[in-house]
Amino acid sequence: MSSQMKAEFDTVAAWTADVALDLGPDHHLPAGCRGSGSPGALRWLLDRLAVRPGDRMLDAGAGVGGPAAFAAAETGVRPVLTEPEAGACRAARRLFDLPVVQAGSPLPFAANTFDVVWCLGVLCTVPDQAQLMSELGRVLAPSGRLGMLVFVADRPLPEHPVGNDFPTAARLAALVTGAGLQARDSGSAADFAAAPPHWADRAAAVDAELERRHGDDPAWRVAERQSGIIGRLLQTGALSGTLIVAG
Ligand SMILES: C[S@@+](CC[C@H](N)C(=O)[O-])C[C@H]1O[C@@H](n2cnc3c(N)ncnc32)[C@H](O)[C@@H]1O
Repeated sequence: MSSQMKAEFDTVAAWTADVALDLGPDHHLPAGCRGSGSPGALRWLLDRLAVRPGDRMLDAGAGVGGPAAFAAAETGVRPVLTEPEAGACRAARRLFDLPVVQAGSPLPFAANTFDVVWCLGVLCTVPDQAQLMSELGRVLAPSGRLGMLVFVADRPLPEHPVGNDFPTAARLAALVTGAGLQARDSGSAADFAAAPPHWADRAAAVDAELERRHGDDPAWRVAERQSGIIGRLLQTGALSGTLIVAG
């Protein structure tokens, strides 16, 4: 992983938990979902994945745990999280008290362990994407459902965040079938409404407080640069957030 990604996924993840805990419980979910799907996109995935309270669910590459906590709040499921960065693992535990295993692509679970696996915004951060996909397929039960949010680039980008490798739509389709899975549904994250004002305001408050505390730190500046580039690429349509459901 590049040092730029480490700053974002480890150092800033840990700071995010500190800030959200200080701002209060109503800030935890918006803080924990920085950089991933909007509530609308997450609900679409939960609905298509038919997540039920008793499902064995894995959030692979869970970051600070916001989407997993959102899934728990919406459906009653109790997800297990994996995440390679120690700062993010600690953040997810402190913010949401969910079970987190520190792990990357080799997943420390037996085959056929989970009814539902989701993996959001992770694929483009991973050098060996076929290995990650194959691991997601391996731990999924035969009747299981996989949900993903993948940032896809079908043409050369005008600017590039350091360390990301965005698949094309065709490459993504090949990765899904290569993992022994079949795509069942897909959507575009851009089709969902932005987060509601109360959510967006809290996410902005977390950002403002992070900047106040750490604005002079190189790790903060690097992470802001990375997420700024991705934001601009999404806004101009150079990059698209693709939701897929496979099984
Ligand atoms: C953009 S963040 C998304 C976090 C979270 N899924 C979300 O939507 O908020 C990408 C995450 O993938 C993690 N990651 C990087 N390499 C990974 C790997 N090989 N397997 C699983 N996760 C990985 C990073 O540490 C980071 O937390």
